[in-house]
Amino acid sequence: PFEVELHRSGRTVRVAAGQSVLAAVREEVPYVAYSCEQGFCGTCQQRVLEGEIDHRDELLTEDERGDSMLICVSRCRGERLVLDL
Ligand code: FES
Repeated sequence: PFEVELHRSGRTVRVAAGQSVLAAVREEVPYVAYSCEQGFCGTCQQRVLEGEIDHRDELLTEDERGDSMLICVSRCRGERLVLDL
C-alpha cells in the first residue's frame, strides 16, 4: 500500500495492494481519463511531481518515464507519489 497525493485537488488517496492507482484516484477525481486499463493505450498518462515510480507498462519511452506514468498499471516503489491532478 502507498499514498498518492493529488496536487491540484489537494487530496490524498491510499492505494491498497491489488488496487490500481487509477481505481484509487477515481474515488476523488471521477472524470480522470482512462480507457484500456491494461497499460496499452496511454490515455491514463499522468505527470508525476514527486516519488519513485514503479513502471509496469511497455508503452512509455525512457524519456516519458522520467516524469510521467500510466496510472492504470504502474505503481510506486516507495510510500508516496504526487500527481499533477
Ligand atoms: Fe490505457 Fe492506462 S488506460 S494505458
